Amino acid sequence: IISSCLLITCFIVPLPTCHSGKVLVFPMEGSNWLNMEILIKALHAQGHSVTVARANKSWYVKEESSHYRSITVNVTAGVDEQVAKIILQRLINAERGQSSVLHFLRLQMETFRLKTEVPKINAELATNMIQNKELINMLKDSQYYLVLTDPCWGTGVLMAHYLQLALVFNVRGVNSRDGHQSIAPSPTSYIPVIGSGLTDNMTYTDRVKNMLIHFLAQVHYNFFVRPIYQAVCDKYFQTGVDFDELIQGADLWLMRVDFVFEFPRPTMPNVIYVGGFHCKPAKPLPQDLEDFIQSSGVHRVIIMSLGTLIKELPRDITAEIASAFAQMPQKVIWRHIGDRPVTLSNNTLLIDWMPQNDLLGHPKTRLFVAHGGTNGLQEAIYHGVPVVGLPIFFDQYDNLLRLQMRGGAKIVTLAKVDKDNNFLKALKEVLNEPHHKENMQKLSKLHRDQPMNPLELATFWIEFVMRHKGAAHLRTESYRMALYFYHSLDIMALLLAVVLLILLMTVAFIRCLCFNMFCRRKIKHD
Ligand SMILES: *[C@@H]1O[C@H](CO)[C@@H](O)[C@H](O)[C@H]1NC(C)=O
Ligand SMILES: *[C@@H]1O[C@H](CO)[C@@H](O)[C@H](O)[C@H]1NC(C)=O
Ligand SMILES: *[C@@H]1O[C@H](CO)[C@@H](O)[C@H](O)[C@H]1NC(C)=O
Ligand SMILES: *[C@@H]1O[C@H](CO)[C@@H](O)[C@H](O)[C@H]1NC(C)=O
Repeated sequence: IISSCLLITCFIVPLPTCHSGKVLVFPMEGSNWLNMEILIKALHAQGHSVTVARANKSWYVKEESSHYRSITVNVTAGVDEQVAKIILQRLINAERGQSSVLHFLRLQMETFRLKTEVPKINAELATNMIQNKELINMLKDSQYYLVLTDPCWGTGVLMAHYLQLALVFNVRGVNSRDGHQSIAPSPTSYIPVIGSGLTDNMTYTDRVKNMLIHFLAQVHYNFFVRPIYQAVCDKYFQTGVDFDELIQGADLWLMRVDFVFEFPRPTMPNVIYVGGFHCKPAKPLPQDLEDFIQSSGVHRVIIMSLGTLIKELPRDITAEIASAFAQMPQKVIWRHIGDRPVTLSNNTLLIDWMPQNDLLGHPKTRLFVAHGGTNGLQEAIYHGVPVVGLPIFFDQYDNLLRLQMRGGAKIVTLAKVDKDNNFLKALKEVLNEPHHKENMQKLSKLHRDQPMNPLELATFWIEFVMRHKGAAHLRTESYRMALYFYHSLDIMALLLAVVLLILLMTVAFIRCLCFNMFCRRKIKHD
């Protein structure tokens, strides 16, 4: 008995890992929390201890968890379910607007409002943490190795600087721009800006649009978003600390895309592509779902989910979607919360939560109706399932466009979904034309053909930063340069001056020569 006990304790006591470290996480709410949590679980499994800082009004981030400890900070405003619901409703209404100019303006207004409301909430979280001396002392005593955060929300960036810790990003966008734009050269001639709805092959007018949207995003960020965070820097940090430089000075960027999905573009040595790190082989489904799928026969199954944020679409749209599904021979599994659409047919199963990855990996799944969040699209790529996209806001249209361009998806916009059977046509087109599936399977093969799976890659690099206390050797200091320095305008000015000088001297010399000849001739004449 004693020996077997010993044996058991030997197995239970984890082997001491030499690099078990402490990680402080500042997550983002919403679907980004879902992939951050996967990263946290992976770190926990490697023996690291993870602490998550959350607001007391946090919506997704739970206080209790088996794989992290949490620190809760009181805030007066937070992104909770109620706030999100109102914001999303406003965006959906704007998206459906009839007149195109008005529609565009309203959409811009709403997005604009959203993009300044959230930074204020995040700045308050940082301020409340910094002002809480007890908490700060506790954080300092805890000897964290690094801060892991999504820089889309600035709290983690500010706190990493305040606590003087290495900084690792789990990132796609920074303040509604593609994260790359903060650190890597991004010519607007072939790199479409998020929100432009353009691909990397742009006509002249496309490039005008791209440049304008880039410029507007820049203006908006610099005048409305940056000052909110910069105020925290000015108040609590030594003078001269620039919020942008804090972002650009991060040690590592774990970028949630890869070049199977994203257009090829210049990058930096401290950008690691971990797109699809949350994807994994499908597990068996709950029995009731499995039975439903098996009952679909040869036509098999369509699944639909609009992600975690969108709980309800307007009723007329859900009715249109339900009646389109009713006309399909396939069976449909639809993640739908809210009232049951009246046009729902008996081939459609409504559920309020779906094991999306397991359903996408099921051999009988033929089509995925998605809103175009990166999490879902990466899963579709991983499992090679073609997509009908119903983009709603943010980067969703742009994400879907990347798949549509590669022939794996078909986009139906919210403004058009209830007109001329557009949704039904899209379903039929993607199901009946086999190249959609073939293209997605090609992407799936490309995505899976990597030396290391993306989650292992992400944890490797986080541990790398722990081992070496940062990754400064991978970072250029280009972001500290003035604009004229970065573009070598001073050198061009010098070269131009030299060229001008030579030209002037040549002209003077020639004039002098001519004058002499002319004069001599004149003298001879005389
Ligand atoms: C969060 O803290 C604020 C400020 O102390 C308080 O007013 C609010 O009720 C708290 N919210 C929750 C959900 O605990
Ligand atoms: C946060 O708010 C709760 C009540 O909502 C209160 O009990 C707690 O003491 C507050 N914590 C801090 C640090 O102010
Ligand atoms: C770009 O688009 C034009 C037409 O819009 C097409 O003729 C051209 O072949 C495309 N170029 C590439 C590289 O796909
Ligand atoms: C579904 O409804 C159709 C007609 O509305 C009917 O023919 C069919 O038997 C029903 N299927 C099931 C499984 O109830």
